Amino acid sequence: MNRIGVFTSGGDAPGMNAAIRAVVRAGIFYNKEIVGIYRGYEGMIEGDFEEMNVRSVANILQRGGTMLKSARSKEFRTPEGRKKAFDQLKKHNIDGLIGIGGDGSFTGMHHLFLEHGMPYICIPGTIDNDIPGTDYTIGYDTATNTAVEAIDKIRDTALSHNRLFFIEVMGRDSGYIAINSGIAGGAVSIIIPEEETSIDELVEKLNKGGKKKKTSSLVIVAEGGKSGSAMEIAQKVKEKSSYFDTKVTILGHLQRGGSPTYFDRVLASKMGVAAVEGLDQGKTDSMVGISHHEIIFNDFEKIMNQPKDIHKDDLRIAKILSI
Ligand code: F6P
Repeated sequence: MNRIGVFTSGGDAPGMNAAIRAVVRAGIFYNKEIVGIYRGYEGMIEGDFEEMNVRSVANILQRGGTMLKSARSKEFRTPEGRKKAFDQLKKHNIDGLIGIGGDGSFTGMHHLFLEHGMPYICIPGTIDNDIPGTDYTIGYDTATNTAVEAIDKIRDTALSHNRLFFIEVMGRDSGYIAINSGIAGGAVSIIIPEEETSIDELVEKLNKGGKKKKTSSLVIVAEGGKSGSAMEIAQKVKEKSSYFDTKVTILGHLQRGGSPTYFDRVLASKMGVAAVEGLDQGKTDSMVGISHHEIIFNDFEKIMNQPKDIHKDDLRIAKILSI
């Protein structure tokens, strides 16, 4: 393996830059040539490539976003699109790939490997923390801290006006950000996609608080839940309870930006180095992960057909503390 292409794909996540930096620096340390691929699979199909050196990744460790830019490519989901991407990689003599992204990015590399034999390692980068085979994904810690900071601020105004706030956090189909920002932010209820939520039970809980002269409450809602968006849930609750003046805040893409926490920087740095070393040692069709503080590798087939469940204990603790 002499020339490695590195790219970011899917939704950006704080810490992606730290991972790019680690791949470039570790690559150079091991005498590899590193090529940056811009705009994920879109740029791969178009040949938007650039040679990278130590200076290319100077001063990016602490920055949010991704210096290589990111995209969600429809064309790459077709065999024709992947053939175009492979032809570009060959043209530029790239003989291995390191892609930083979520499950869609991992699946894309898996198909490229099956169809064209391109060796690769995936680095899990997504704020959702929804990828099996790793305790944490890059960006999740920063996004959750951002959500907690926002929740604390909303609590100030909720208290001042005796209001009930429904705060919607990101996570697509995953409740990780919701459950942990909810515990850290002292939410009265946390609504996640992994669990059925009864509006009647929620109303009963809020009413109980109202009767006990609880003047304000925060409910955290993960986007993508079966019970609907924060807006829809707030509307249903409003129709059934008159205790609270109700407001909704959607945190949205705010959670995707910002300087990565120390945790995400270190995680990204470890994973970047491990990805280069793994690829160099002949590992492929695999994802680097972290389990109990140890770096591990998992093959695509082993992990991608199983869901990543929310920790049962997190749910239990959230319930005990929200009485
Ligand atoms: O996967 C990361 C994520 O931020 C999800 O939490 C969210 O559902 C989605 O991306 C939003 O995607 P986009 O930025 O394309 O709107």
